[in-house]
Amino acid sequence: MFRRVVNVAEALVALGAVAFVILLFANNPGGVAGSGSVGAQLFGGRVLRDFPNEPDEVTFVANGRGIMPGFATALTPAQLKAVVDYTRTGLAK
Ligand code: HEM
Repeated sequence: MFRRVVNVAEALVALGAVAFVILLFANNPGGVAGSGSVGAQLFGGRVLRDFPNEPDEVTFVANGRGIMPGFATALTPAQLKAVVDYTRTGLAK
């Protein structure tokens, strides 16, 4: 009896995990890099509009905001600049 309840619980957890993954991709049409499943959409020139000056975007990514974590300790200044450069060039189209 107890084992049966556990089996049902396991099945529900597995189902939940599958639904989670499906929703994750459904929320990100085409899986375009930088399309922002959780965060803001970074393509389409948005960052260039919101951060006309690159150092302001570097500060934003270093500090984070709301649920976006800051990357000041995870990335070196050179890495921060590299990823910000990428959002402004490769992703900005
Ligand atoms: C190095 C990796 C990341 C970079 C370069 C980055 C870059 C950015 C930039 C530039 C913006 C501002 C977009 C705009 O307003 O024009 C932004 C916003 C945001 N990002 Fe990220 N992000 C990164 C990682 C993440 C992660 C891991 C998460 C979620 C866990 C996240 C969640 C968000 C959210 C929620 C916003 C909107 C914040 C607000 O407007 O208050 N980001 N991100």
